Amino acid sequence: MKRVLFNIILFSIAFLYIGNTKAGNCNILLGFDNINAHGGNIIKYENFYYLFGENRNNKGVVKNINVYKTSDFCSWTFSGNAFYSNNNHNIGASGIIERPKVIYSVSKKRFYMYFHHELPNTGYNSALIGVASSQNIVGPYKYIRSFRINPGVLPRHTKNINELKYSDFFKRDFHKGQMSRDLTVYQEGGDVFLISSSEDNSTLIVSQLDSTLANLNGNYNRISPHGYNEAPILFKEGNTYFLITSGVSGWKPNKAKLYKSKNLLDDWVYVGTPIRSSKSNINTTFGGQGAFIFKYNMDDYIFLDSWDSENLSKSNILIKKVYWENGNPYLK
Ligand code: GAL
Repeated sequence: MKRVLFNIILFSIAFLYIGNTKAGNCNILLGFDNINAHGGNIIKYENFYYLFGENRNNKGVVKNINVYKTSDFCSWTFSGNAFYSNNNHNIGASGIIERPKVIYSVSKKRFYMYFHHELPNTGYNSALIGVASSQNIVGPYKYIRSFRINPGVLPRHTKNINELKYSDFFKRDFHKGQMSRDLTVYQEGGDVFLISSSEDNSTLIVSQLDSTLANLNGNYNRISPHGYNEAPILFKEGNTYFLITSGVSGWKPNKAKLYKSKNLLDDWVYVGTPIRSSKSNINTTFGGQGAFIFKYNMDDYIFLDSWDSENLSKSNILIKKVYWENGNPYLK
């Protein structure tokens, strides 16, 4: 009996020690090992954080959107494929889905996933926004539709198409709708906005969704025409909106940029680089490309993909804390 008791005590001490070690070593900046979810986002729902992202198991084409769940950013549970690209005829095996973003609509009591969608065999030229929805956070998300943005509609405050700066691509696509590639989705109260790389990646477009959450309502604007931005991350601090973007160089890392505005749909200004570090970290954004921002324990963090262009399934994840000075965010 004594021996059994001794063993139990020993076992309990060992267990406590392992538990503590794990908790002690848990560092949110390093906590995303063995996660295959790229270009996506995190949302908090009930007591958990859910991470959605591209399943980069296959070289090249993304077929599934993975979802993982955590309460502490240390231990993650794989919760399955939230969305399968082959669920729908248009999203066949050779179609591309990238940069999924999931939001919860309080009024509809449903989750909506938005993603960059390319039809099979079109390279990156169909440039559509895809929408899927689910009643359960982990899916399966059911495909709704894909579309080009704002066909035949001029941006806010624009009476004549010739007023627009750098408008060659805009004019080319005016009737069939503008391109929508890298994207993020931003929610404020009941309003939902899509921010995507358009016009051959030369110009970002911010568009408001209508109450169906599967269509736009025609209220939109161009941001930084000819600024060549991708991978947009949009957030608000106080009464200022911030955008952190990457430049345009495919899988190769480049210099991140910071913009700000008092009005989501107007007046964005370029601030400069949001990185404070060595020249090479500034020029390559620490070797990563931003995907989204998330909050944990009152701090904000940026999730970046460090792409391995030779084998995308070997791409890594970097997490950087957001610091503030004189009202502007920076990463170091
Ligand atoms: C990146 C973009 C990725 C992917 C890639 C393809 O610039 O951010 O989401 O589309 O280009 O080359």
